Amino acid sequence: PSHYTMDNAPLIGVIGGSGLYKLDNLEIVKTVNPVTPWGPPSSPITIASLSTPEGPVTLAFLARHGPHHNIPPSNVPSRANIAALKRIGVKAIVAFSAVGSLREEIRPGDIIVPDQIIDRTKGVRPSTYFDRTMVGHAMFGEPFDVQLREFIVPHVKEAINTFKGHINPSDEPRLHTKKTVVVMEGPQFSTRAESNMYRLWGGDIINMSALPEAKLAREAELSTDYDAWRVDAAPVTVEEVMKTLRTNAELSKHITASILGAVHTAVKSGQIQGQTGQMQYSLMTPHK
Ligand code: ADE
Repeated sequence: PSHYTMDNAPLIGVIGGSGLYKLDNLEIVKTVNPVTPWGPPSSPITIASLSTPEGPVTLAFLARHGPHHNIPPSNVPSRANIAALKRIGVKAIVAFSAVGSLREEIRPGDIIVPDQIIDRTKGVRPSTYFDRTMVGHAMFGEPFDVQLREFIVPHVKEAINTFKGHINPSDEPRLHTKKTVVVMEGPQFSTRAESNMYRLWGGDIINMSALPEAKLAREAELSTDYDAWRVDAAPVTVEEVMKTLRTNAELSKHITASILGAVHTAVKSGQIQGQTGQMQYSLMTPHK
């Protein structure tokens, strides 16, 4: 859109998951309600300015399940969400989600930056933009942008370290990287037999949200990084789940605020090259 100048265009989109419906300490520039050929996105998109050590950075924020958590995972309008962020001009997306753990060593409250996905939503959710007049097969061997993910990891580690004072030392979150997320359809959770099967497949964490988002972002030539936090530890009460979610939403907000300046600078300077132009190798339909 024409109202952004080169200096204040949002380059990074942030998608918030369960518990993360807005970001704090932002100067809101405007709220936009883009219309896309796939309908409206999950929530209005907040364009906001964040002050960072690198200077003020403009970002675009979207709440995946709606501002009041009224959109179940199977109904998230991912094609509209990704198209809206693309239209606004973002080049990279940092997405957050709550996850369950399939591994003993991934504890409640821990932060995970996964690098692989197993798709258990296939065929249920619309998961491509290439279903009309063009055929395209995006490469997805690395479902998240490798440069962006590797760039982000030390920054997330540092952000977790500076957050530790806010929580009980025994609950201090740990960072896990290069993990495999199983994305299941839901909305019901898995049976024990299914969880065991996912463990045998190599799954480390599980959620209902990373897809089709990451596939559509790849087709739209956007870089993605995905940060997740574990919520389930056979909690005794809903209150315990909510407590983990609240603490982790705070941590996610802190991570976003801490890393975004560096990510913005790296994308803007070309240190993170991104996915722009990659789809030219994926189209089967002749194009002019
Ligand atoms: N999201 C959060 N916890 C989950 C779990 N155990 N299974 C699937 N999705 C989840």
